[in-house]
Amino acid sequence: VKTLIKKILEKTLPPSIYLGLQAANARRYIQKFEKEEGYRDLNLKYESIVGRVVQAGPFHGLKYTELTSERHITQRLLGAYESELHPAFEACVDKPYSSVLDVGCAEGYYAVGMAMKSKSAHIHAFDTDPWARKVCRAMAKLNGVENKLSIHGFCSPEWIRANMPPRSLVISDCEGYEFVLFAPENVEQFKSCDLIIELHDKAPSEEHPIYRNLENTHEILIIPSKTHDPKQYPQIKDFSEEEQKRCVDDMRHSWQGWLFAKSREQR
Ligand SMILES: C[S@@+](CC[C@H](N)C(=O)[O-])C[C@H]1O[C@@H](n2cnc3c(N)ncnc32)[C@H](O)[C@@H]1O
Repeated sequence: VKTLIKKILEKTLPPSIYLGLQAANARRYIQKFEKEEGYRDLNLKYESIVGRVVQAGPFHGLKYTELTSERHITQRLLGAYESELHPAFEACVDKPYSSVLDVGCAEGYYAVGMAMKSKSAHIHAFDTDPWARKVCRAMAKLNGVENKLSIHGFCSPEWIRANMPPRSLVISDCEGYEFVLFAPENVEQFKSCDLIIELHDKAPSEEHPIYRNLENTHEILIIPSKTHDPKQYPQIKDFSEEEQKRCVDDMRHSWQGWLFAKSREQR
């Protein structure tokens, strides 16, 4: 019955509303799971010892608000979160983009991080989940970058076509909606933009449809996900082995990964 209701809602509601409901549900489910499995307590322990400032990586120094304390964010605070992407972000933070779009910004690790590091770009952070927008706003304020960042709900190809200036950076982590954003009929608008895209259906490869859609206009790097080594993070050396493993766990499928598509036009 639940699956049927889901299908009916998906077919009848506008995507902005359906995706908002789905995102809020998913977040509530994950929050409950994290609490029951002890991730929330581990996070509180970590914060009381090390604090709420990102320790390493391109967004080193980014301050976190206590609104995120209920979540499993130790990997972000350590700087281990998606560290596979550090070289890509290191390459992007100093580039003079006209704007940065973060589609699926959650609490703002990338959106507020880029606002803090980028000298030129205005950041547009999108999330259909109201909790994410509230926390992202608080993070922007805490880090003194609220004037460099605009927060929006649903991101659509139409919004991008109407508002995104050329030579932007697009960070996409939107649970499958990347198939709509980077569909063949929409890729033209990204030809001068660099793109960091998390894939949610299957592993990144040259056979992936989004790779195919972008290969004429972009030089594409395939970035597979890796398990992070807790020994690289001295801040947690006194935690138990199990806690250390959990602290650096991004909680994703091992096959998941990204495409880092660099605009041939920009080069
Ligand atoms: C996995 S979370 C993002 C995590 C975040 N990128 C990070 O690394 O911290 C995915 C988010 O994408 C949002 N989302 C999915 N499709 C969207 C769309 N078209 N516009 C805006 N947000 C979207 C969901 O609300 C959800 O909160």
